[in-house]
Amino acid sequence: MILITGATGSIGTRLVRRLRELDVPFRAMVRDEAKGRALGCDVVVGDFDDPDSVAAALAGVDRLFLNGAGAVPTSGPRQPMVGQQLAAIDTAVAAGVQAIVKVSVWGARQGAKLAAGAHWEIERHLAAAPVASAVLQPSGFMQNFLTGAGAFSENGDLLGIAGGARVSYIDCFDIAACAAVLLTGAEPARGTFVLTGPEALTQAEIAARLSAAFGRPVGSLELPPREMTARLVAQGVPASFAADVAELWDEIADGSLAAVTPTVRELTGADPRTFERFLADLDLGADLGVR
Ligand SMILES: NC(=O)c1ccc[n+]([C@@H]2O[C@H](COP(=O)([O-])OP(=O)(O)OC[C@H]3O[C@@H](n4cnc5c(N)ncnc54)[C@H](OP(=O)(O)O)[C@@H]3O)[C@@H](O)[C@H]2O)c1
Repeated sequence: MILITGATGSIGTRLVRRLRELDVPFRAMVRDEAKGRALGCDVVVGDFDDPDSVAAALAGVDRLFLNGAGAVPTSGPRQPMVGQQLAAIDTAVAAGVQAIVKVSVWGARQGAKLAAGAHWEIERHLAAAPVASAVLQPSGFMQNFLTGAGAFSENGDLLGIAGGARVSYIDCFDIAACAAVLLTGAEPARGTFVLTGPEALTQAEIAARLSAAFGRPVGSLELPPREMTARLVAQGVPASFAADVAELWDEIADGSLAAVTPTVRELTGADPRTFERFLADLDLGADLGVR
């Protein structure tokens, strides 16, 4: 039995679909039962902040898909995901889970800002735990441009620090497909897998693709880091979080997410989806309503 956490999110909804297609036994842990019912699979209500509910959700489970929220503004020194996922790993080990597949982030490393530093801490804990584990380190999600996590100006233009920087965005469909392979193999999966889309695009190239898909002109605005921080703050983002985000984007401007890896094809046997394919599927309505 597989337990999917983060089942209502960008990756989770697609993983639920994939495991249903594969007809393997699984259940989804959700915080909101009504939201879970919409997934059309077995669900159990659980919250990472309530370890007893996670322990109950893990009854009879031998493989765990560990995925939760990304970085959030916080007053403390630690991202909430760290405490949540360390506890979930310990609970899973105590429950006899044999394999964990965790969603991390490409570039996870000690001392890094936001999700990259938080995931590094969780990865270290997982590596030391007495359980087989595989870590997915995806590039930026194409879905960010639907959820609003990709930044837009008040005029709907795409915002970035350096328009010329390339990012190998990945469709969460492909992350889910890789997770499904790792969760259903004969042997528990092990290793770290850097997952990217098939090509690295500039902000202007993405804006052009979004213009065509949205049926309205989407411009591309290049801002210095200080101006980017000020804009985020004006949008209500706390100043220290905005500064961290701008620093991260500065790294991206230096090419931290520009490489393309062959890992999706190696794991799934299929090429990762292009940005055009991702957008075309939205036009067909396949993903509308997911987020
Ligand atoms: N966005 C990117 O470009 C990117 C790139 C690389 C890696 N990542 C990583 O990918 C992961 C997923 O990010 P995402 O943006 O895809 O998130 P998402 O779509 O918002 O999904 C987050 C999921 O976690 C669930 N969740 C949140 N808090 C929870 C809690 N306390 N207990 C149980 N479940 C909880 C949410 O459930 P509800 O429906 O109840 O809220 C949702 O199903 C994050 O770890 C992020 O760091 C993101």
